[in-house]
Amino acid sequence: MLSIPDLKPEKHYNAVGILTSGGDSSGMNPAIRSIVRAALNSGVKQVFGVRRGYQGLVSDDITLMSSRSVTNIVQKGGTVLKSARCPEFSDPSVRDVAARNLSSRGIEALFVIGGDGSLTGAHILCQEHGIPVIGLPGTIDNDIPGTDDTIGFDTAVNTAIEAIDRIRDTARSHERLFLVEVMGRNSGFIATQVGIACGAEMVVVPEYAFDFHDLCITLAERHSKGQGSSGIIVVAEGRDPDLTHRLAAQLKAQGQDPKISILGHIQRGGSPSGHDRMLASCLGTAAVEYLLAGYSDIMVGVHKGAIVDVPLQRVTQKKKVLDRKLFDIAALLHK
Ligand code: ADP
Ligand code: F6P
Repeated sequence: MLSIPDLKPEKHYNAVGILTSGGDSSGMNPAIRSIVRAALNSGVKQVFGVRRGYQGLVSDDITLMSSRSVTNIVQKGGTVLKSARCPEFSDPSVRDVAARNLSSRGIEALFVIGGDGSLTGAHILCQEHGIPVIGLPGTIDNDIPGTDDTIGFDTAVNTAIEAIDRIRDTARSHERLFLVEVMGRNSGFIATQVGIACGAEMVVVPEYAFDFHDLCITLAERHSKGQGSSGIIVVAEGRDPDLTHRLAAQLKAQGQDPKISILGHIQRGGSPSGHDRMLASCLGTAAVEYLLAGYSDIMVGVHKGAIVDVPLQRVTQKKKVLDRKLFDIAALLHK
């Protein structure tokens, strides 16, 4: 269970806004629901939903929300506010438009649910225009510094595990080797957790060097121990879009016949897991409490089972490190 800080309300806000931005993740809906209801139940008069992330902030696509408008979404994947990428938001003159749109509706503070890019945008908006912002970590990648967990990671991991368990069945029946690509353009958190949980023969991540020779030895050892030629190699997509195919070609050249399975966006959708619903609901409520207690320019995150506040500056300046020990467990346990 998460422990939630005890904060005293010190400030009053009449109107606040919420947006979801960047890659969507399962649990964004319960987070939206939680913010809307916690705010309205704490004396905030109006909660506005901004559609399509920063794009909607710039094009003034903003609607009033109510407790009723978030009914029946706690179990739904995706985001009812929709999400988008808005590269123009890096331009200060575009952010001026966004700030004007907020002020013309009397919106005094903004909740931003998204990944490190979205939280960077929130930090800059706050610094430049003095708009109080509170960020919530919403990404399947779990790569946001300052928080052990992000909304959507657990659901994505479970979806990938279920898919790989199925692949494992057919891999064993046909004694085949599979390369399964999971999401994570810049990070291997999903790949590592999924690799451990599925007993993968090898995990490939962007953070740590991968030795093709090691992989060949592992496969040869398995073969000589009579463990057959079936196996699962989990590959984080990384920044090289051809990595998985190149690996397959290298394995082919060594006499293997690997099959490729790219799980892709199925990891982003689906009903949020119980864990993600709880996480999103608690972080949403805490986000409102932090705002009313006078905090701004922070992200609410989780550290060692407790909800904590993390300065957005820290979120934008650091990179979250994939624990080497955790990564090594994947290799250790299949031997
Ligand atoms: P995520 O939030 O999932 O990491 P992105 O990195 O694509 O996704 O960022 C989402 C959006 O956040 C961008 O399309 C842009 O609107 C905004 N954003 C990202 N980086 C910046 C930045 N340096 N300055 C202003 N806005 C940014
Ligand atoms: O949300 C994070 C993430 O899923 C990355 O792991 C992935 O590389 C990226 O988003 C893909 O996003 P999109 O297909 O929306 O560009």
